[in-house]
Amino acid sequence: MTAPGLAHPSATTTLSRSGYAPLVPGTPVAVVGSGTMGQGIAQVALLAGHPVRVHDAAPGRAEEAVEAITARLGRLVDKGRLAAADRDAARDRLETVDDLAGLAGCGLVIEAVLERLDVKQALFRALEEVVDADCLLATNTSSLSVTGIGGALRVPGRLVGLHFFNPAPVLPLVEVVSGVATHESAATCAYDTALAWGKTPVRCADTPGFIVNRIARPFYAEAFRLYEEQAADPATIDAVLKESGGFKMGPFELTDLIGQDVNEAVTRSVWEAFFHDPKFTPSPAQRRLVAAGRLGRKSGHGWYDHGPDAAPPEPHTAEPCAAPGTVGVHGRPDGPLGTVVDLLKEAGVALTEDRTPGVSTPFIGLPGGARLTLTQGAAATEELDGPHIRLDLALDYRTCTRVALAPGADVADEDVRAAIGLFQRLGKKVSVVADTPGMIVARTVAMLIDFALDAEARGVADRADIDTAMKRGVNYPRGPLEWCDEVGVRWVWQTLSSLHDAYPSGRYGPSVPLAHRATLAYKQGLS
Ligand SMILES: NC(=O)c1ccc[n+]([C@@H]2O[C@H](COP(=O)([O-])OP(=O)(O)OC[C@H]3O[C@@H](n4cnc5c(N)ncnc54)[C@H](O)[C@@H]3O)[C@@H](O)[C@H]2O)c1
Repeated sequence: MTAPGLAHPSATTTLSRSGYAPLVPGTPVAVVGSGTMGQGIAQVALLAGHPVRVHDAAPGRAEEAVEAITARLGRLVDKGRLAAADRDAARDRLETVDDLAGLAGCGLVIEAVLERLDVKQALFRALEEVVDADCLLATNTSSLSVTGIGGALRVPGRLVGLHFFNPAPVLPLVEVVSGVATHESAATCAYDTALAWGKTPVRCADTPGFIVNRIARPFYAEAFRLYEEQAADPATIDAVLKESGGFKMGPFELTDLIGQDVNEAVTRSVWEAFFHDPKFTPSPAQRRLVAAGRLGRKSGHGWYDHGPDAAPPEPHTAEPCAAPGTVGVHGRPDGPLGTVVDLLKEAGVALTEDRTPGVSTPFIGLPGGARLTLTQGAAATEELDGPHIRLDLALDYRTCTRVALAPGADVADEDVRAAIGLFQRLGKKVSVVADTPGMIVARTVAMLIDFALDAEARGVADRADIDTAMKRGVNYPRGPLEWCDEVGVRWVWQTLSSLHDAYPSGRYGPSVPLAHRATLAYKQGLS
C-alpha cells in the first residue's frame, strides 16, 4: 500500500531528504517512554546493533528500564542465545537520557509513552525542536490515529506508526502504519528497518485497530457471545477452538493471560472509533468481569480461577458411544463434509451412497433418521426437512483431535449417540454443544474472514499482509483470506447470511466485498 506523499511541501513541511534508507546499525536510536513496550523495543534495537538512548518523563524510570533490559540480556546469555561479549557490547551501547535535548543526533525516535493524544502530540512537538531534520519519528500507539498524532508536527510526513506487539523482543510482527500525511519514504524506511531488526513488518493504513486489533475482534467477541447464549462453557469453547479450529489458545484463556481490562479496552476503543458499529460491540459478560476486578491471571480470577489450588479447565467431552454399523451418504459431499466421508470410509464404516438428484445439502444419514450436516449458520432445529445434527467446522478433520456437534431439539438420543460414536471411531473427542446458529469454529472463522475481506476492500492492507499479520501477530493457524479459499466464499456468505437472519442486529450482515465474491463464485459455478 502506498500512503499519499506531501503534494505541495512548503518550507516548513518539507522532508529533509527525498528518501530514507534503512538505518545502518551504528545510527543512534531513541526510545521515549520506558515502560513495558519501550523496554522491549529498546532491547530489539540494541540487539540489532544500534546505540540506544532511553528517555522517560518519570524520574528513575529510564534507569529501571536499563536495569531490566540488562537483566534480560543476562538471561539470554544464560540460555546460550547471546554471547557474553555481545551482551557486554550491547550494554555499552545503552544509555539513559534525562532531557529530550539528549536525543539530538538520533536517526530514529520511537515513542512508547502513555496512550493519550495530547501527551503524544506534545512530545512529538518537543522532539521536532530537538532532533535533526532527517530523523524519522515513529509512534507505537495501538489505538490512536497516526494522522491525528502527526497533525501536531510541522513535518507530519516524517511520522510513521511502528506498532510492535507485546513482548516486543519475542513477537515478530510489526505493523508499519501510514497516516494520511506519512511520506512514502518514511514508511519504507520504517519497514526496511523493522525487517533488518529481524521482525516481520506489514504495511497498513491508519484505521482503527490497524490490521490485527481490527480483524481479531470476532475471535474474542464470538466466544463471549456463545458463552452468553449458553452454547457451552468457556473450557469447552476454548477446547473446540484449539483442538478443532487449530488456534494455539482459546479466547477465554488468552484474555485471562492478556488481562480482561486490557482486552476490553482494545475492543471498546475500536468499537468507539467505528461509532458503535454493531460488528464491534463489546461483551456484557466481559464487562462484568472487568467491573468485578476479575482481570485474569494477574488478579487470580478471570473467566477461570487461577488460584494456587485451581483445577485446570475441563471441557465437556462425550462419553464413549458405539458407532453405527452403516450410515448413508446423501448428495455429493465435497469440501469439509467430503473429508469426513473419506475418513469414515478409511475407518471401515459401511456407507450406503444415495445419489438421488435433488439433495441440495449433502448429509450423512444416521440410523434413527437424523441428518448430520456441516453447519452453515442456521440452527439445526430450524431445518424443516427433519431432525438435524450440526457438525462444526474444523481446521482439518484429518488432524483435529476434537469435533463439536449440535443436535436439534427434535433429534432422538439414539442418533446423538450414533453421531458421537462415528467421530470417536475416527479417534476424535466430541463436544456436544447447544444448538446455536453457526456454532463455535464456523461462526468465528466466518466472521474473521468477513472482517479480513472488508479490511482488504477498504485498503487497510493487502491480502498477503493481512494473512501474515494474523498468522505472525496472533498465531492463527491459517490466514483468514487463505481460510476463505479453503472453505469457499459461498459457504462463508451462506453462514453469515443465516446468522444475520438469526440475529438481525447488523452484527453478522455479510460485508459488500463478501457478497460480491460469493455472487461471482456462484456465477462461475465455484464453491
Ligand atoms: N502494552 C502493550 O501490550 C502494548 C502493545 C502495543 C502497543 N502499546 C502502546 O505502547 C505505548 C506504551 O504502552 P506501555 O504498555 O509500554 O505503557 P507503560 O505504562 O508500561 O509505559 C509508559 C511509559 O511512558 C512514560 N511516559 C508517560 N508520558 C511520558 C512523556 N510525556 N514522556 C516520556 N515518558 C512518558 C511513563 O512514565 C511510563 O514509563 C502506548 O501507546 C500503548 O498503546 C502497548
